[in-house]
Amino acid sequence: MKSIIITGGAGFIGSHVVRLFVNKYPEYRIINVDKLTYAGNLANLKDIEDKPNYCFVKADICDFDAIYALMQEEHVDGVIHLAAESHVDRSIKDPFTFARTNVMGTLSMLQAAKLYWESLPEKYEGKRFYHISTDEVYGALRLDHPEELFTETTKYQPHSPYSASKASSDHFVRAFHDTYGMPTIVTNCSNNYGPYQFPEKLIPLFINNIRHRKPLPVYGKGENVRDWLFVEDHARAIDLIFHKGKVAETYNIGGFNEWKNIDIIKVVINTVDRLLGRKEGEDLDLITFVTDRAGHDLRYAIDSRKLKTELGWEPSLQFEEGIERTVRWYLENQEWMDNITSGEYEKYYESMYANR
Ligand code: NAD
Ligand code: DAU
Repeated sequence: MKSIIITGGAGFIGSHVVRLFVNKYPEYRIINVDKLTYAGNLANLKDIEDKPNYCFVKADICDFDAIYALMQEEHVDGVIHLAAESHVDRSIKDPFTFARTNVMGTLSMLQAAKLYWESLPEKYEGKRFYHISTDEVYGALRLDHPEELFTETTKYQPHSPYSASKASSDHFVRAFHDTYGMPTIVTNCSNNYGPYQFPEKLIPLFINNIRHRKPLPVYGKGENVRDWLFVEDHARAIDLIFHKGKVAETYNIGGFNEWKNIDIIKVVINTVDRLLGRKEGEDLDLITFVTDRAGHDLRYAIDSRKLKTELGWEPSLQFEEGIERTVRWYLENQEWMDNITSGEYEKYYESMYANR
């Protein structure tokens, strides 16, 4: 039996990882550790919350004592660490929170795992600390050089407070391997999309705005490029790498699926319109060009050939199918969306866009 802590399991990607592990590995004990910030939502896990191999613990990853005690109580052999502040725009307004959670929180997780595992007779044997990171640590690629991709050896060059905090956390994880021999793995993934994503991020925000015929704030000229991966494919990669990945390695995860923001926005508009029985393209006039994000990275694109060659992972979904499933899910789960977009979040959203 394996006892695994998944941090940030009430968030977007974490909830898909928890669901996959709970359903696929009934012999494991899956402990979802989440502080339930604005981004954490236990409604994301309703379908598995009563499973006997699942439990939820409300805790802050920065609370070293609580995490260390939990590791001892639960005899934890594995950590899959996703908990983080994840939204670039918020990091521009409030960098301290990002440093606290993403840097100090990761350090607290590492130190708790180190002290617990080093206290055991078998030490690090059979243990694993898997840190989920982002392609944003590599900085930005050039638009006019499509052959350039982020590889596992691309130099770190983060630009936003978010990516700087994630880069710092990646360095701490690798330092724990190099200094103490902790069996760590780091993966850097591209933009995820799919069900249960908090509607501050481009795709769910725009789906909801189109439904309600609200303006769609496109930053700058909409020329920036992102590499989009369906979230369940990311969760499958995490499962594979957690079990088969080589200790101390880094794997890049991406969809080989680059889109200019303005083009993906048009696909989303057409899909929402069609599924709502509106005339396709009817809502294109909701597009509103607004002041660009400060330090906005031009292009991200991941080379995930290492993961394919070494472990046989590939994205399973074509983008057309993924976006259709995603839009359909948000339209069919309006209550999930309304529970988030009413109340405090609505106020935050309005203040965020007031000055743009
Ligand atoms: P999210 O914002 O949807 O979820 C983050 C979760 O972490 C929430 O449930 C929140 O409550 C929890 N959390 C935040 N601070 C915490 C704390 N101090 N203690 C305990 N829990 C805390 O994020 P996401 O988009 O699911 O991203 C998950 C991870 O994947 C992050 O580490 C992010 O950097 C990384 N990542 C995200 C993407 C993406 O496209 N979303 C791509 C690559 C990597
Ligand atoms: O690349 C991986 C990263 O992808 C993750 O590490 C982050 O956690 C995740 O949030 C995401 O970061 P982005 O900044 O790329 O995602 P976001 O959805 O915020 O924005 C996608 C693109 O759309 C980006 O170029 C900014 C633009 N955008 C975004 C919003 C919210 C707009 O034009 N308008 C908007 O309102």
